[in-house]
Amino acid sequence: MKKYVMALVCAAMMMPMNAKTLVAFFSATGTTKAAAEKLAKQQNAVLWEIEPAEKYTAADLDWRNSKSRSSMEMNDPEERPTIKRCTDVTPYDTVYVGFPIWWGICPRIINSWLDNNLPQLEGKTMIPFATSGSSGIEEAEVYLKKTYPSLNWKKGMLLNQR
Ligand SMILES: Cc1cc2nc3c(=O)[nH]c(=O)nc-3n(C[C@H](O)[C@H](O)[C@H](O)COP(=O)(O)O)c2cc1C
Repeated sequence: MKKYVMALVCAAMMMPMNAKTLVAFFSATGTTKAAAEKLAKQQNAVLWEIEPAEKYTAADLDWRNSKSRSSMEMNDPEERPTIKRCTDVTPYDTVYVGFPIWWGICPRIINSWLDNNLPQLEGKTMIPFATSGSSGIEEAEVYLKKTYPSLNWKKGMLLNQR
């Protein structure tokens, strides 16, 4: 009985610590979403979907078409697609940021989200994660470190299913 009570007390004490982790992600077709849900469960973290104000259609995602929305966005490093709702990142110490790899790096909506939350994200542990067709996450890690040098980036994770 004593052991049981102790375990409950410990679990209760650990909860606020774990609750300080955020898993924020963008997913166009559901793959990153599934990975983010799994990760949030494992980390006992709060899950947050970064949603574009305007959803991506299949035509928008056509990487073979140089005029598709995703191609146009990725061809312009300054592009910042509008996000539907803002996030309050202040309660969290650790922030996982998830996305599908687009042309080797993160989709521009991730820049929108980071730009929107930049001063508040400083000092937090930032961990990128991604899903992809085959690419690794390394190029995205380099890009994020270079574009947001004031953030405390840790090693990224590629969460493709095997
Ligand atoms: C516009 C676009 C560009 C992509 N570029 C790459 C790429 O450079 N390398 C890669 O391995 N996969 C690439 N992919 C495939 C996605 O990264 C992969 O399907 C991902 O798991 C999709 O995640 P989601 O379902 O969460 O959107 C690309 C997909 C799209 C739509």
